[in-house]
Amino acid sequence: MDIYKITGGATLQGEAPISGAKNAALPLIVASLLAEGETVLTNVPNLQDVRTMIKVVQCLGAQTDFDTDANVLKIRVAALTNAEVPYDLVKTMRASVYVMGPLLARAGEADVSLPGGCAIGERPIDIHLSGFEAMGATIELEHGYIKARAERLSGGRFVMRNVSVGATANLLMGAVLADGETVLENCAKEPDIVDLGRFLVKMGATIEGLGTDRIIVQGVPKLSAVTYRVMPDRIEAGTYLLAGAITRGSVKIVRAEPDHIGALIQMLGEMGFAIETGSDWVSIAPGDRALSGAFIRTLPYPGFPTDLQAPMMSLMTTAPGISVIIETIFENRFTHVGELRRMGADITTEGNVAIIKGQERLSSATIMMSDLRAGAALVLAALAAQGTTEIRRIYHSDRGYEKLTEKLLGLGADIKREAGGKL
Ligand code: UD1
Repeated sequence: MDIYKITGGATLQGEAPISGAKNAALPLIVASLLAEGETVLTNVPNLQDVRTMIKVVQCLGAQTDFDTDANVLKIRVAALTNAEVPYDLVKTMRASVYVMGPLLARAGEADVSLPGGCAIGERPIDIHLSGFEAMGATIELEHGYIKARAERLSGGRFVMRNVSVGATANLLMGAVLADGETVLENCAKEPDIVDLGRFLVKMGATIEGLGTDRIIVQGVPKLSAVTYRVMPDRIEAGTYLLAGAITRGSVKIVRAEPDHIGALIQMLGEMGFAIETGSDWVSIAPGDRALSGAFIRTLPYPGFPTDLQAPMMSLMTTAPGISVIIETIFENRFTHVGELRRMGADITTEGNVAIIKGQERLSSATIMMSDLRAGAALVLAALAAQGTTEIRRIYHSDRGYEKLTEKLLGLGADIKREAGGKL
């Protein structure tokens, strides 16, 4: 089990290149199943979750070739030879349920292990399932597996009871090959959904309303395999800006999409940081006024993303005054709080509200990641803490941050990855 050892106090300086987006790459890999032929995805981040999704499409009959140096993934699809995704894959990554859309659309059946709870809450998939039912599928639950069947998905109108990124992606992938028109209401507007939609349109799908809460799809009989570049990762981009902020450094993120992190940029400016943006870069540096705390409420896009809530909380622990976070997306997303407290942070939580009293300095401790974004929060806290922090269970951050050590070293951080830590 590898660990990170981070000695805090370095003021980060320099540029961090942003990788392709994990949450865009995952549905694109699955969507390649919708067409026969060779799909070529570029700018694919070499991450644990991506490698898991590659195993998922392999188990359904696709052949893959991932050049991890060039970040190019080739996926060759002929007939789908299997329609079952086993528990061992789904339990390591919930996004495996994305295969339901393409499998139902192309094979008429999908047997997918029902994901259980996870570190950040119960995370049901009822919206995915009722959406497919609205499109004519029958759904049964047997021995922990969802068994979905549909001779051919048919269009219709479906209103999602809650904005869900996963359900929007899944239903969109089903609708593109369905019979007739599908109207999806209360859709997620996340850039990852827009990226998926653009990919599907390039494959020959007819979709209107991407990036709005009403997506209208005219089903087509067939799609073709294409080449497509994955958009930059907005959560990784935000994490490096926050790394600059917490060390009071001057960091420029490049190969990024500033429009995708508007809520974070706005908030950092209000806290007193100096932010500049260009077409594909954002820089952060100390501003010319005293810093202050902030109030954030996590919301669906374009609101403040829940995936940046934990890293933002780390910054707040060192920002003067009181900060408040209301987490509205997931019910149990404060697992980093206990670890931050062990580093001396002053945080009080009550339900989905956290109140943070900023202080001058955190202090090092031995701490443990509980999930991907909580892990990012701990790395940021360690960068700003006095002394050397040992972080365990860093396999969580391998799921979503490509070349984390190299990128932080490039900014002047004192970070080492070592083998052999305890669990
Ligand atoms: C995706 C992202 C994740 C991000 C989240 C919210 C991927 C691979 N993951 O997760 O990083 O934190 O969006 O931006 O893209 N819900 C239901 N029933 C459903 C589906 C969702 O009640 O059928 C609820 C969830 O429990 C949660 C909320 O809806 O409270 C939003 O979840 P959703 O947008 O679906 O998150 P994911 O797609 O799982």
